Amino acid sequence: MSSYKYILGNSLNKLKNIDNDKFKLIITSPPYNVGKEYETKKSIEEYLNEQNKILDELIRVLHPKGSICWQVGNYVEKGEVFPLDYFYYELFKKRNLQLRNRIIWKFGHGLHSSKRFSGRYETILWFTKNNNYTFNLDLVRVPSKYPGKKYFKGPKKGQYSSNPKGKNPSDIWEIILNDWENEIWNIPNVKSNHVEKTEHPCQYPIELVERCVLALTDEEDWVLDPFAGVGSTLLACLKNKRNVIGIEKIKKYKDIGLKRITDFEKGLLRFRAVEKPIYDHTKSKLSQMPLELK
Ligand SMILES: C[S@@+](CC[C@H](N)C(=O)[O-])C[C@H]1O[C@@H](n2cnc3c(N)ncnc32)[C@H](O)[C@@H]1O
Repeated sequence: MSSYKYILGNSLNKLKNIDNDKFKLIITSPPYNVGKEYETKKSIEEYLNEQNKILDELIRVLHPKGSICWQVGNYVEKGEVFPLDYFYYELFKKRNLQLRNRIIWKFGHGLHSSKRFSGRYETILWFTKNNNYTFNLDLVRVPSKYPGKKYFKGPKKGQYSSNPKGKNPSDIWEIILNDWENEIWNIPNVKSNHVEKTEHPCQYPIELVERCVLALTDEEDWVLDPFAGVGSTLLACLKNKRNVIGIEKIKKYKDIGLKRITDFEKGLLRFRAVEKPIYDHTKSKLSQMPLELK
């Protein structure tokens, strides 16, 4: 039976009480400094300076075979875009972490921009502490495009050419804002019509975390989310027999997260099913051009 701790407080202070090398995976979506209700917007320098302080602590508590998955978007000031992963890459690299993938998490809906192209992706920087790291590719394979295809020449002629367990999901995870869009990795972003939505303004989908948890940890390993919000990481871990610690500074979010965990334990929490087929939007009335606009 896996366990969890949901700690209320500032992650920098709370991490000081945690043993070295504890976590096989640290996965989080930090504040982006965009003025959400849980943050005060600062200059990019001040913001990074503050975040910088926590990184040494995170690396101290990261297991030698461990990974950090840092999920970020853009910070925007007076219309100018600052891609946060660009800045975080430098901060992690300076501490000798090694980048394994810069995963593009693409989604089809969002705010429409009028002075630049509408932003439709965020990224996950996946770093490891060392060269020897846990990576369970088989647990996150996706169906091959042509599972029946065979080699037509050479020593393997006549044998199936693709892995029967499926293919590598690649570093582009097309994730949607709403269930009616098409996607590559079939993980919708969490918005108001989503079964996982709470009143937190920036939840990420449990399914997104599950992929990282399955690939980068083994059962009973420890996972940390230092900016835990309403507990999506905790739920992804408990669902998959991983131990987890979440740190969140706002009590309201922790309380919602605790309720979600209780609902999960009672079998009442609604999840979007992993790999659930996506609704075909082309069949919806809303996707037909209205007669008066033709
Ligand atoms: C982008 S949200 C993460 C949401 C989370 N991924 C989820 O699905 O619920 C960032 C969270 O970090 C919290 N936070 C910001 N600064 C913090 C700090 N120094 N220590 C702990 N939590 C913090 C915010 O209150 C917010 O809930």
